[in-house]
Amino acid sequence: KKDWILMATARSPTNIAVVKYWGKRDEALILPINDSISVTLDPSHLCTTTTVAVSPKFDRDQMWLNGKEISLSGGRYQRCLREIRSRAGDVEDEERGICIGKEDWGKLHVHIASYNNFPTAAGLASSAAGFACLVYSLAKLMNVREEQGKLSAIARQGSGSACRSLFGGFVKWEMGKDSTGSDSIAVQLADEKHWNDLVIIIAVVSSRQKETSSTTGMRESVETSPLLHYRSTEVVPKRILQMEEAIRTRDFSSFARLTCADSNQFHAVCLDTSPPIFYMNDTSHRIISYMEKWNRFEGTPQVAYTFDAGPNAVLIAPNRNVAALLLQRLLFYFPPSTDTELKSFVLGDQSIVKDAG
Ligand code: PMV
Repeated sequence: KKDWILMATARSPTNIAVVKYWGKRDEALILPINDSISVTLDPSHLCTTTTVAVSPKFDRDQMWLNGKEISLSGGRYQRCLREIRSRAGDVEDEERGICIGKEDWGKLHVHIASYNNFPTAAGLASSAAGFACLVYSLAKLMNVREEQGKLSAIARQGSGSACRSLFGGFVKWEMGKDSTGSDSIAVQLADEKHWNDLVIIIAVVSSRQKETSSTTGMRESVETSPLLHYRSTEVVPKRILQMEEAIRTRDFSSFARLTCADSNQFHAVCLDTSPPIFYMNDTSHRIISYMEKWNRFEGTPQVAYTFDAGPNAVLIAPNRNVAALLLQRLLFYFPPSTDTELKSFVLGDQSIVKDAG
């Protein structure tokens, strides 16, 4: 009877913010100072797959990331585990004679094995997919019957941006008002089919680990940047409404203008922080300059760009034809074996790989 093992597996993609989250009003609960909006990538790219298992034989909680054991002692993991365990339900597997009552979960230990289908060292956001997947797979294993929004509030406590990966398509993270964080949740604005012509290309500029973690960066910006205060109170609330409208009406020009402006303001906040934080490098700046020229030459935005807490460019094209042109141009302007070489491309739509030969 002591030999059984129960498992659950889930897969979560990462998401890219088009109106960024930057700054917390509560660090422990991870409550943001503004709403944010993101697009969730296709699950076949940049995703995490997590298998969680429970057995009476396990004597402690353990986790492996890409085959290497990592510590679960950090507050973020502990909070997610505790929140899920407190909501666990009864689980019965008659065939195998397994019966776990909800009161038993506190005594049982879990093993967690997580894999990223992209190099973890590539400098691409992995915590969003990671915590979303951890929370979802544990909820499945422990028969947690909560709505996805409630689960997003748990994933948020692992990594803020993770709450948005609980949904596909376009997602808004509502900052909420409550001091407990119960209303700081993700909501889906439109599903993945709503605007499926969009193609996302990530140009990997550098695979180095970032120097300032988002947690440290946000704390320093909140403490020292007057621009961040202006951004969160005056700019983002209006921009969120405009972005929701652009997504609803699939208005690419407006979507692209808002996305680029928001990325640039986020990096301006980083420069406005003391000491200043530099996430982009010369290649990132050259990419922006090139995209701006292209968009201006055409008279209307062809491609949107956005950069997170690192130098890699996330480029969004309105359709496959523009995406194929974009790839050709990137390879021409940033050829291999130069200082500004782009290391690789990660595509939101695999068919482009074939188109680009
Ligand atoms: O959730 P974190 O701590 O990894 O912060 C993410 C911050 C940005 O990626 C820069 C913006 C965002 O909204 O995802």
